[in-house]
This record gives sequence, structure tokens and C-alpha cells, in this order.
Amino acid sequence: MSSATAAPVSFEQRYTLPVIETVDDTAEEIRRKQERVRALCAERNAILLAHHYQRPEVQEVADAVADSLKLSQSAAKTNADVIVFCGVHFMAETASILCPDKVVLLPDLRAGCSLAAAVTPEELRQWKEKLPEAVVVSYINTSAAVKAESDYCCTSANAAKVVSAIPADRTILFLPDKFLASVVARQTGRSNIVAYPGYCHVHKTIRPEQVEELIENHPDIELLLHPECGCVSSCMAKAMDGTLPQDRTFFLSTEGMLRHIGDSQANEFAVGTELGILHQLHKKFPERTFHPVNSNAVCAFMKTITLDRVIRSLETMTPQVRVPEEIARKARRAIDRMLELA
Ligand code: 13P
Ligand code: SF4
Repeated sequence: MSSATAAPVSFEQRYTLPVIETVDDTAEEIRRKQERVRALCAERNAILLAHHYQRPEVQEVADAVADSLKLSQSAAKTNADVIVFCGVHFMAETASILCPDKVVLLPDLRAGCSLAAAVTPEELRQWKEKLPEAVVVSYINTSAAVKAESDYCCTSANAAKVVSAIPADRTILFLPDKFLASVVARQTGRSNIVAYPGYCHVHKTIRPEQVEELIENHPDIELLLHPECGCVSSCMAKAMDGTLPQDRTFFLSTEGMLRHIGDSQANEFAVGTELGILHQLHKKFPERTFHPVNSNAVCAFMKTITLDRVIRSLETMTPQVRVPEEIARKARRAIDRMLELA
């Protein structure tokens, strides 16, 4: 794998991190707000989709809680008139691309993504000009306009599968996550992947020394790492040389982690991803023990969505996310190719 030239500008200058609001509702207030959400969903014929990183009370009121791949599949096949996307902007855009006739609500427009902000369509066009024969594979964490410039879309659940479907002699421009790119290069054995230098500001802080400390204190633990983590290259190398247990080190999407735990005999897991996933893990596997690799890994973008904002969004039918038809048409090709492979 090789890297694109140096990062165009500091990625951190491209977004504003929202302040995380503390919600101190009582259990009774949460229950009443959830009832209101369900009543509004029925009135509007709306489906509520939530990502694993959402606040627990939002996950609990959702029709489906899943990773970005499963959520886009749910959006693609729903009969609802309205999709309330409790996730971030690129996810709502993907739903709008797949369901152009439906209203897609994103309850707070501040719900962006540092990774999606790392590459603009103009930067991708310039990159493509330098390597015009290459195939472009964009992670789902990109804007619709970037997807429109791409040949394939992928998620963390199917990136290796998508890359494997591309003829081995083709150069692949993989964007925007450099850590996911290194996992895909290792999993597919492809040396002709050129990686864009982007990263997620949350997963980047999940570091090799935190992993080592957990393994030292819990020798039988299984290590579940999201491929966006800053520690993946080091962990892959250490799993190869035996410093980390190779048979207990896994690189998985959020949904992949849940599936893996269901199939595993282990009792203790180190979880390297955003902390919101712990809600589903504790709920589905109450008898198992989970240790976050980094207990500060919180995505402020995801936490902008509160029950109050979901209610307001359904009441006012705003803010809506709609992708312009020309961009949607081009982006849909890349997403459809991915969904066909999935
Ligand atoms: P998943 O596709 O695993 O849900 O990840 C999405 C994401 O934003 C990770 O930061
Ligand atoms: Fe984007 Fe990172 Fe938040 Fe995922 S955790 S939505 S990649 S900023």
C-alpha cells in the first residue's frame, strides 16, 4: 500500500466539534418522550433508524439499531414515507440517495463526521487526474458529492469484499480513511492500494499502548477493533509476530462486533470503537464483560441527536436532507455496486 501526498490542509480545521449536551431526564421523562416519538412515527408513517453510537435512549426508541451497511439496507427496503436518521449527515444522505421519494430527517444538522470532512469532491477530482486509470473506492463516510466521483462505495463491514471484486491488476484509490485502507491492504493482499491520508478524530485516539495494557491485565481477552482505529497497523504487525494473540485479534465493523461476540466462547472483550456500542453489547450479552480500549472515545457528532430533537424534527418535519438529483444519480451507482456485492 502507498499513501497519497501529504494531507492538503490540517483536517481539524474542516469541522466544528459540537459541545456534548448533558441530558438529565428522569426515567419517567425518558419514557414519556419515547412514547411521543413512537406516536409521531405512527402519525407520519416514519421509520426511525439509529446507529450504534447513538445515545442509549435514542437506540431504545428506534425501529432498527445497526452499522452503516445494515442501516442503508434498511433504508433501501422500507415502505415508510419518512426516514428519521439518528446518525450523522453522510448516513442521511445515503438514505436519501437510496430513497429519493421519501422524506429523510436528520434531527440535528450539526451531526457531521470528521472523516467525511477530510476529502472534498475537488480534492478527489485532482487525485483522479494524477492516476486516471485507477479505480476509486470510497468509504461510506464521505459526502454524496464524493461518492458521485467514485466507482465503488464500501463500509467497514465489506471493504475487503469490495476491493477483492476489483481486478487485481488495477490500482485502487482508497479514501478517505488511511487506517481502514491498511486493514484492507492486509486482508486482501493488494499492494496497489493508494490511501488517502484521512482519519476519524475519535478512532485515531485508540492507541496500541491502551491495547497492550488491556491484554496484559486480562490475558484471555478477545480484542475487537474497528478498522478506523489509530492502532490497527501496530496491532496487525503485533498479531503477526505473536506479541498479540493472532487468534484473538479481530478487525470488525460495529455490527461485525455484535455478530462475533454472539459466536464467540470468550467471556471478556476489549472493545476498540466509540463508546455508544456498549449499550447494545451490555443489553445483548449481559453475562459477558466489556472493556473499552479508550474510555474517552466519544463522537460528539453522534451525540447531537437527543429525544427532544427527534420529537421536534418529527413535529416540524425539519431538518430534511435531500441530495440533488444529478449527484444522487451518480452516487447511487457506487452505492448500488456495493449493495449488490453485500
Ligand atoms: P460502522 O459502519 O462500523 O457502523 O462504522 C461507522 C462509523 O462511523 C465508524 O466511525
Ligand atoms: Fe465520523 Fe468518527 Fe463519528 Fe464515526 S466516530 S461518525 S467516523 S467522526
